[in-house]
Parts: sequence; C-alpha cells; structure tokens
Amino acid sequence: MRNKIQAHLRSMAASILCAAALVAMAAVAAGAVVEHTFVVSEVKMAHLCSETLVTVANGQLPGPAVEVTEGDAVAVHVVNKSPHNITIHWHGLKQRLNCWADGVPSVTQCPIRPGRSFTYHLNVSGQEGTLWWHAHVSCLRASLHGALVIRPRHAYPFPKPDKEIPIVIGEWWNLNLAQLAKNMEDGYYDDSSNATTINGKLGDLYNCSGVVEDGLVLDVEPGKTYLLRLVNAALYSEYYVKIAGHRFTVVGADANYVRPFTTDVVAIGPGETVDALVVADAAPGRYYMVAVGGQAPKPDIQIPETRSRATVRYTSSGGEAPPVEPEMPDQHDYMVSFNFHGNMRSLRHPRLPPVPARPDESLFVALRMGSICRRGRSSCKRSGSKESVIVETMNNVSFQLPAASAATPLLEAHYHHHHRNNGTTATAGGLDQLYTLPDRPARPFNFTDRALIPWGPNEAWLEPTEKAAVARRFRHGAVVDIVFQNSAVMDTDNHPMHLHGHDMFALAQGHDNFDAGRDAAKYNLVDPPLKNTVLVPRLGWAAVRFVADNPGVWYMHCHYELHVSIGMAAVFIIEDGPTVDSALPPPPVDFPKCDQ
Ligand code: C2O
Ligand code: CU
Repeated sequence: MRNKIQAHLRSMAASILCAAALVAMAAVAAGAVVEHTFVVSEVKMAHLCSETLVTVANGQLPGPAVEVTEGDAVAVHVVNKSPHNITIHWHGLKQRLNCWADGVPSVTQCPIRPGRSFTYHLNVSGQEGTLWWHAHVSCLRASLHGALVIRPRHAYPFPKPDKEIPIVIGEWWNLNLAQLAKNMEDGYYDDSSNATTINGKLGDLYNCSGVVEDGLVLDVEPGKTYLLRLVNAALYSEYYVKIAGHRFTVVGADANYVRPFTTDVVAIGPGETVDALVVADAAPGRYYMVAVGGQAPKPDIQIPETRSRATVRYTSSGGEAPPVEPEMPDQHDYMVSFNFHGNMRSLRHPRLPPVPARPDESLFVALRMGSICRRGRSSCKRSGSKESVIVETMNNVSFQLPAASAATPLLEAHYHHHHRNNGTTATAGGLDQLYTLPDRPARPFNFTDRALIPWGPNEAWLEPTEKAAVARRFRHGAVVDIVFQNSAVMDTDNHPMHLHGHDMFALAQGHDNFDAGRDAAKYNLVDPPLKNTVLVPRLGWAAVRFVADNPGVWYMHCHYELHVSIGMAAVFIIEDGPTVDSALPPPPVDFPKCDQ
C-alpha cells in the first residue's frame, strides 16, 4: 500500500496539488496523502539595524508548518535554490524502516546540492503530537526549521482544544550562519545570538534606533482552551516560558502523551517539544508570554541573557492598560528544568509500548569537555592555550565523520555491505574506520567535582582526548540502557541528548554522580515518559532505556549546536531483524549522489 502511494506520488512529479484536495481525494483510504514543497533559498532579513542573508524555506522564518493526521503518507519536495548543501531532518519522527529519509548528511544520505531537489517520503504512523523539522547542516538549522504537527486520527486523550497554536522558540543571529559554522570549526566559540525569537519575531524588548521589533500577538477569547505546541529550535539555550496570569497543563512532550500536570512555567531544551493547554480564564486584558534562556551560573562562562516576549490579548479587552508581566525564574535556577522534567510521566494509552523489564546491554557515558592538539600533533599546551582546541566528548572520544562517508554515507555503506558482500570482503566505505563507543570511561573520576569548572591546572590531566568515528552496533531488538553522566570539566551545561529513529524511556535523573547500587533502584519502570531528547541535568545524570528495533544508522548527539559540532555525537548501527518486516528496504531510486 505504502509503496503504491509512493509510486503514485513520484508519478505526479513536479505537479503540486493542493493538500486540501488530496485530503478529500484520499478520504476513503486509511491515511491521506499530504504533499509540501520547500523551496530553500537565501533571503535578506533586517533586524536590529542590520541586514543578514538567511537560508529559509519558502521565504519564511520559521518555515512552513507541516500539519498531518496520524497515518498519512507525507511527501516533502525539497528544492534547493540556496548555495549550500542541504538535508532536512524530521526531528523525532521514528521513520520505521525508513532510515533513508532521516536527513543526516554523510550518515544517512548525500546532501542535496545547490540546484538539485529531493523528495522525502515520511511515514507518520503511530505517533501523535508535536515534532519539528530542521536542516541537519550545522548552523543553518537556526533559520531552516518549522513545526511538524501530527494530529490524532480519532481523538485527543483530553478535551479537544478550541484552537492549536505552534510556538517555535528560536534565535536571531546578525552573523551569517554559514560564518558561524566556520567559526565553530576553527575553534572560535565565542559567538552568541543577538535575540531570542518567538515564531520568528523578536518582540518589543528589542529595537533598532528606538523602533521596537514586531512581536507575536495571540488573540484569545475568554473561556476558550488553546493547545500550545512549543518547539525549542534554538542552537543554544534551554528556555523557561511563562504567561502572566495563566497556567499551563502539560499534556505531551516529544510527540508522546504525558499524564497531565499543571505548572506556571515550561522548561524546554533545544530539540524538545512540549504540548500544553492554556485556558483563557484571566480577567480580560493583555498578558506577556516571556521566554528566557537558562544558563549555568558562575564560575561557568556567562553569555548575555537572552529573552523575548509575545502578547496574549483578550479579544474582549478594550482598555489600553500595559500588558501584565510574568515574574520569571532566575535564568540560573536550573532546578526549574530539573523539576519540570521530573514531573513527566507517560499517559496510559493504547499505543504506549511496555517498558522492557531489563536491559540486554548497559552503557555508562560520561559527557564532558576535553582538548586535542591542533594540526594533528600529539602533544601541546592545554588549558586554554592556542596550541590545543576544546572538544566535547563521550567517554573521552570526540566524534568526527570517517573520511569515506563524504563519498558513501554510512547508511549506504552498511546496506550494501550487508546485501552485496555476503561473505566477501569488498570495500566497506567508512565502516572499517569506525571506533566502538566504549561501555564506560577508561578513567573514572569524580565527574561532578566543582573544582573542575574553571579552566586551569585542575582539569588539565583530563583534557587529552581523541577524534574518531564513534559508533556502536546493536543487535535487532536489543534493549539498551544508557546512563548519561554529566560532568564539571570546564563547564556545567546540561546536555539535551537526542537519538534519531527511536523514543527513549526516561527512567530517572539525579544530581551528582550516578551510583548504580543506589540509583538503579529508583528507575521508573511503570510510567516513564518517552522522549527523543533527554535533558541530562547540570552536575547530574539521566538514565534511559530504548529498544533498538529500527534497522539503520542513527545519529545520537547533543542538541546544542556547538556541542554536536565539536564532537558530542555517535552513530548507532542497528542490524536488520530476521523478517522482511524488520529489515531495511533498499534506498529510494532517486536518492542524491555525493558526486554531483
Ligand atoms: Cu534535531 Cu540530529 O537532530
Ligand atoms: Cu551538550
């Protein structure tokens, strides 16, 4: 059926039909066929008295929201009219047996070259809620992104909201994003965004020569219920979001339903999504919605505070009273995030998979900074010297793509290795350059020792690390536990760890060093939330469990752009299962080639 739909879509080629007509046409089938075209190009946008070239889809920032119903067949034609290589990743979409459409350059596909196009065929079965899409090409995702909304085929497990509103939190950079990416590659990490945005708007806390920036205005009617679909698309910060005079009832996160809980503040890390109901039950008037970027306190290095605001406006309000301001938490109060994420429980739901009782494999992954010597030298000065460059590591190894993956993406190499070379030893692309992610750090230490925060002699012995194509293979169906241990080496940032192609049960989180004897007993095996992005708290740890049952090569990485670009990443290779229904099908016929 699916193949038929795909063939059908391909035969329609460039003709772009109106999605509404298609919905009507296919109403008899189980799922409709939804088509979108993203024309990616560079446009000039002006903010804060400066003009910047930004790469966007269909001229919009954020890009178009893809809104579908669970079970639809979705085709997105990406036409690359920009000067950059582009891929689009469908963040949080499990892409079962569809790893080819995951959109990670050199991992799952060759990028779409300037002047070329490619159609992503997406399967949105078995997931409901808010996800998003973004370029997976370094910093371009700061402007090339949008919401991906999957509505239930039948009903919400909560009263139907009167209206649904995507709220995409992002950043405005005066700096050209391609330049930002280059700076990161060169080991220059001091850039920061110029503004926080809500649905692409900077809001009235920012101005150019006294002329305030446009802000988002949400018109609400008294007594009505609004479903806010929040996405954090920022490169850097976790955000704390409040609306003066209103409370949120959180009902979902990462396209999984959660047991509803009420809070006056939402904490959302980069890559995460949160679905929250807001009832317009305050006195008619205007209320600010504020998003403030969190950051670790000193002695961590500080960046200027980032904050944006939108206005919630009651239609019935006549007066000109100034909008009411919410009282925001301190941006350094990381317990806001710890408590928010600690409140999440899965909602019992027919689609909710059971939590496997025990793992087949357990990894302990220490997340921390380190350094490598420039120009491939084996010894050099550390601790901030120009001879070395800071990298991010997992178990003391920092990810880099194998050279061969620029010609043959890892997924293709993996697939062809499997299917053509049974028994023979033909070239394995980058596969023979992979380095196995160790089960645990070679040299354990007191990871959260506060004395390690300021750069200097204290942590110098911890710095030397290496670059490698870090990977890990899993047998089809393996139940995998990972404890992510955060550390205090040179900084105490939290890390939103994101796994492609799978949801992870977030079993527990805690402060300080993970202690297996004490902490494994606290795992929630009853109703842990399912997440594609798990925030590993500052000076603490998070434990996850997932079932490696989606064959392919899946990227796993921190969703802070700087961290992933300097190596906090790995690829997980998941073997085929024994049946056709559990094995990766061949690549799409029109798959991009690397040499054109
Ligand atoms: Cu949203 Cu690999 O990322
Ligand atoms: Cu990180």
